[in-house]
Amino acid sequence: MRIGLTGVAGFIGSNLADALLARGHTVIGLDNLSMGSLRNIEHNLNRSGFEFHELDVRDLPAMREVFASADLIVHLAAYKIPRYGKAIDTLEINSIGGKNVLEVGRDGNRRVVLASTSDIYGKNPNVPFHELSDSLIGPTTVPRWAYAVSKLFDEHLALAYHSGYGVPVTILRFFGSYGPNQHLSWWGGPQSVFIEAMLRDQPLEIHGDGTQTRSFTYISDLVDGIVLATEYDKDPAIVLNLGNTKEITILDLAKLIYELCRTSRPLNLKMVPYASIGGNYEDVPRRIPDITRARTLLGFEPRIDIREGLGKTIEWQRRILGFSS
Ligand SMILES: NC(=O)c1ccc[n+]([C@@H]2O[C@H](COP(=O)([O-])OP(=O)(O)OC[C@H]3O[C@@H](n4cnc5c(N)ncnc54)[C@H](O)[C@@H]3O)[C@@H](O)[C@H]2O)c1
Repeated sequence: MRIGLTGVAGFIGSNLADALLARGHTVIGLDNLSMGSLRNIEHNLNRSGFEFHELDVRDLPAMREVFASADLIVHLAAYKIPRYGKAIDTLEINSIGGKNVLEVGRDGNRRVVLASTSDIYGKNPNVPFHELSDSLIGPTTVPRWAYAVSKLFDEHLALAYHSGYGVPVTILRFFGSYGPNQHLSWWGGPQSVFIEAMLRDQPLEIHGDGTQTRSFTYISDLVDGIVLATEYDKDPAIVLNLGNTKEITILDLAKLIYELCRTSRPLNLKMVPYASIGGNYEDVPRRIPDITRARTLLGFEPRIDIREGLGKTIEWQRRILGFSS
């Protein structure tokens, strides 16, 4: 297939591009390089079967042109963390970008595979989350929910484009992924920050008491799931959770990274109360996906244990930041 891929220079996009090329697909990649990096895709730039276009998903005419020959579009470009003043970008890019991609899919009735997030389940206490679980979103005065709401908007719009215009849509809800090419800041997730803090001999900052849990998914497992979903065409409109089902507390994540970094220094944790974070911060207490649907329909199965995945990620991050092993 010829696959249009937005957000190709980002963490998931760059890893997905490699996997799609390895399976013989052509990748027409697009990114505005606001959060992604050419470093992530430079090894593919002169490869046949790969194209890169530096442009913005808010530019519909340009996107129409570069994706004119695509059989299907995978839409990953988005802003993820509306903290630190990025709420306008998050709401704008995710809503306008999502609508534009669906418009491009509507030309020629091409499937749109849309990246959504576990964040749309919000504060729902009933884990694991099934695709039909409720979204329990906090108040609009808490900026973090802008991200979940923007993705809920995208999901609703995708399903409306399906029922209104017949566009085939696949909605994938990713649960926190990590691995090589992850962003080296909070944008990349707590594991990214903890690894860098260990390498620089700084304290590992734990928000709240650290008992909040996540189910971290190694990037190769997530990419396997996205590839399987991209090649699955039996259902014209489908929503799927993709993630690892093993949950770990943030405190245990910090301790595991400390152990895997093999240092003689004592563990240095800095507890940061939610109240001191600012921006009316609210956290999600637990996050575990029910992946029965992806298992049954796609044969999706996460394989990489967190210890193994973090080991590879630490090695990569050491190299990228110029620390010796
Ligand atoms: N990483 C995760 O754990 C995770 C979890 C849940 C959902 N997701 C979703 O998966 C997708 C990819 O996430 P990621 O972790 O790879 O993020 P990322 O920030 O690494 O990649 C996103 C890419 O989109 C690009 N981009 C942003 N705005 C753009 C615009 N206006 N026009 C063109 N390109 C633009 C960025 O430059 C970046 O390269 C996102 O939609 C995100 O919401 C990710």
